[in-house]
Parts: sequence; C-alpha cells; structure tokens
Amino acid sequence: MRITDFEIYRDLLKQKSGLVLTPDKSYLLDSRLNPVAKKWNYPSIDAMTNVLRAMPSKELVNDIIEAMTTNETSFFRDTKPFDTFKNFVLPYFKAQAGRPKRLRIWSAAASSGQESYSLSMLLKEESATMPGWQYEIVATDISHEILAQAREGLFTQFEVQRGLPIQYLMKYFVQEQDRWRLKPDIRNMVKFEYFNLLEKMGGLGQFDVVFCRNVLIYFDQPTKKGVLENIAKQMPPDGLLFLGGAETVLGLTDAFAAVPGQRALYAKPDSVHCKKPAAASPGAQALA
Ligand SMILES: C[S@@+](CC[C@H](N)C(=O)[O-])C[C@H]1O[C@@H](n2cnc3c(N)ncnc32)[C@H](O)[C@@H]1O
Repeated sequence: MRITDFEIYRDLLKQKSGLVLTPDKSYLLDSRLNPVAKKWNYPSIDAMTNVLRAMPSKELVNDIIEAMTTNETSFFRDTKPFDTFKNFVLPYFKAQAGRPKRLRIWSAAASSGQESYSLSMLLKEESATMPGWQYEIVATDISHEILAQAREGLFTQFEVQRGLPIQYLMKYFVQEQDRWRLKPDIRNMVKFEYFNLLEKMGGLGQFDVVFCRNVLIYFDQPTKKGVLENIAKQMPPDGLLFLGGAETVLGLTDAFAAVPGQRALYAKPDSVHCKKPAAASPGAQALA
C-alpha cells in the first residue's frame, strides 16, 4: 500500500474510532480491508481508497472501522476481575444500607458479549445473597456486526471452552447442533447498544460499576485520558472501574486512582475505596 493511502486509513480510524494504526501494523490493512472491498464490489483496495478519498459514505466508513477492530474476548477473561467483582464490589454495595438495591453496570467495549454475560451469570449465582436487588447491564461497542453476534448469545465449542466453568455451561446454555446458546433469562439481563467511546456519554446515565477492558490499549494517550475522564462523569462518587491487565490510569489522569490491594480496579481518588485508614497518633501508640 502506498504511504499516502496508509495515511488515509490511519487518519480515518483515529478520527472516527480512536484506534491508532502504526506503520508496523500496515500489513493488517491488506488482510482486513480485502473482504470490505469485496463486499462493496470494488475490484481492489486501491479502487476503494479512491472512493474513500473522493466521497466516503457513512456505511463504508463503518465497515472499514469494523474490519479494523480487534474483538478478542472470552468468558471470565483473566478470572481475577470477576473474583474481585464477586468478593469486593458486590459486598461493598450490599453493605450500603441507605442505597437503593439497584446496580447499573456498563461493559464499555463489549465485543461478542462474553464479558457482560459472565457478569449476568455471576449475578444470577449471587442472587440468593442479594434478595430484592435489581441489575441493569448495558453492553456497548462500536461494531454493529459484533453487537448483532452478541445479542444472539450463540457461541462455538471453542468459545465456551475458553474460561467458562463447565457447571455454568450445563446450567445456563442449551446445545444447538455444534453451538451453545445462552438461556433467555441470562441473555435478557444484558442490553446491547451501539456506542462509540469517543462520543459524549451523558445520554447513557450513571453507572455504579464500569468494565472498560482491553480497548484503551488501542488508543493514544490523549484519547485514553479523554475517555477515562468522561467515564468518571458517568459514575457516582463511590463507583468502581475495571480496566484490562495492560491498562492503567497512572500518568494519564487523576480522575481515578488504583484501589489499594485490588488489581485492575480503580475508583475516584477521594472515594471511600481509595481513602487510606487514618494513621494512629503517636499518643495512641504510646498508650498501647
Ligand atoms: C479486544 S475487545 C475487548 C472486549 C472485552 N472488553 C474484553 O476485555 O474481553 C475491544 C472491543 O472494543 C471495541 N472498540 C474499539 N474502539 C471502540 C470505540 N471507539 N468505541 C467503542 N468500542 C470500541 C471493538 O469493537 C472491540 O469489540
């Protein structure tokens, strides 16, 4: 691909989705854009690039963005965040006496739905310990195609073998030929919607817990900062944010700080989660 053509795709992706395409990843363009050119009946990527340069349609731009996103995900990905959700996050909210028994959770780059469905299975398992609680899980992504797949709740043998405990497979899925479909009660706990993380977030409402995992890694520093600061505005003072294992807020923003002792979990710096226990006064030490 010519350098000027590479720059067209690089700038388009950056501007519309935040994804950063570095020259060492230019090889990805050919393999991922070929199917888009075919779908649109262009004889080659060059022909598609010429159209893009002259008169880009919204649909073509969408298809190009979708082709360039990485949708890698799995059930209970990395295990630990879901243990933290169960053993730290839920007990915290359960213990807040004055709070409504209501939890709004956002899976902010949901891909094919494994993250949000892992949460709905986990909440179902915990329902006996949280009587009267209502949950809303909103799962969003920039790719219409991956969202359509997520809404289906239909997974291959390979997908259910990655991270899903066998007892959950037996309990919450039904086999359809060589695939597995989530039962409606688990599927209906998640509402899938299109949302681009570069857009204004106000319309989404407030979330007690946000999972924004393994998407910031594809953005540059100013974009990461902007997204994190916008997410912070959608969270109450004691809201909690999960990032991916290779992601952090450090050096980017002080809208969030790491929750001590909890890997990949962040909260507002002045929140109850980040406050250090008051140090014992020297007098108290002397008395002890
Ligand atoms: C690697 S997947 C992560 C899925 C899941 N959060 C996880 O950790 O397993 C990244 C997802 O981010 C989505 N994405 C990329 N850019 C986005 C943007 N600007 N707004 C919303 N979603 C985006 C992609 O479509 C993709 O499904």
